[in-house]
Amino acid sequence: MTRQATSILELAGGAAGIFAIVEDFYRRIEADERMRSLYPADLEPGKEKLRLFLVQWLGGPPKYTEKYGHPRLRLRHFPFVIGEWHAGRWLRYMREAWTANGVPVEAMNVVFERLGPLAHHMVNDKDDVPRTPLGDVRLS
Ligand code: HEM
Repeated sequence: MTRQATSILELAGGAAGIFAIVEDFYRRIEADERMRSLYPADLEPGKEKLRLFLVQWLGGPPKYTEKYGHPRLRLRHFPFVIGEWHAGRWLRYMREAWTANGVPVEAMNVVFERLGPLAHHMVNDKDDVPRTPLGDVRLS
């Protein structure tokens, strides 16, 4: 009998695990004045989007896309001036949140191999991009 390999999403505790990781991540953002200043006053809508996105990105139900359309993450980050420093902090806090939630290190390594380049891809501080807020826009 062949056994199904355990998915990263399962190892992260499913959608509930991702929920806890995102809460933890945002607590770290809130405690860092320079990171916090990049985020809007109300953190809840962003938290919800990040949760839906991560579950989908890890192979779970595509609820992010159902609600907001194509992720187009780099474009969605244009309104926020993101430098290499921010990408480094983002990755550090995300890794700390996964660690604090007991995700096995082997699973984390797989995830961060993909998250590392993705975070650096968001860097836009030297680019001439439109900075107009996008809000809850649906993209295709
Ligand atoms: C490089 C460092 C990053 C910084 C400083 C950053 C910062 C932000 C900020 C300020 C927002 C807006 C939050 C809000 O509207 O409440 C946001 C949204 C979001 N971020 Fe990032 N982010 C980074 C990297 C990433 C990465 C690597 C991912 C993917 C794993 C990601 C996924 C998202 C998602 C899904 C949203 C919601 C987009 C939307 O639908 O409007 N971010 N981010």
